[in-house]
Amino acid sequence: MKLVVAMIQPHRLPDVKQALFEADIHKMTVTNVLGCGQQKGFSETYRGVVHEVNLLKKIRFEVAVNEEFVDATVNAIIKGAKSGQIGDGKIFVSSLDQVIRIRTGEKGEEAI
Ligand SMILES: Nc1ncnc2c1ncn2[C@@H]1O[C@H](COP(=O)(O)OP(=O)(O)OP(=O)(O)O)[C@@H](O)[C@H]1O
Ligand SMILES: [Mg+2]
Repeated sequence: MKLVVAMIQPHRLPDVKQALFEADIHKMTVTNVLGCGQQKGFSETYRGVVHEVNLLKKIRFEVAVNEEFVDATVNAIIKGAKSGQIGDGKIFVSSLDQVIRIRTGEKGEEAI
C-alpha cells in the first residue's frame, strides 16, 4: 500500500477531483495548507531581496491506495494539476504499513 500526497494549486482542485473520479479513485482527504517550493513562494519575476519564505495557499491531497492504483492516482493528479507553469505542485509517494477500517476491524488492502 502507498500513501500518495500531492500539493496542488487551489484553483486546480475541481480538475484533480474529476480526474481521480474518472480513474475510479473515490477516497481522499483534502486540506487547505500553506507552503512554498524552490521559488520560496515568490514568482520568478520577483526582483527584491528575499530574506524569508513567502507561504502560499495550496491544497494538500491525500490518497491511500493499493499498489495497482499508484500509477493511476499519480497520473490523474498530474492530468488535473499540470499547467506547465512554476508552482504546479508536487507529488510524494510513500509506503503505507497498515490501514484499519474502524467500523469493521478490516485491515490492509481490504480496508483501504
Ligand atoms: N521538498 C518539499 N517538501 C515539502 N513540501 C514541498 C516540497 N516541495 C514542494 N512542496 C510543497 O508543494 C507546493 C508546490 O511546490 P512547487 O510546485 O512550487 O514545487 P517546486 O519545487 O518549486 O517546483 P516548480 O519549480 O515547478 O514551482 C509547495 O508550495 C509546498 O507546499
Ligand atoms: Mg515552485
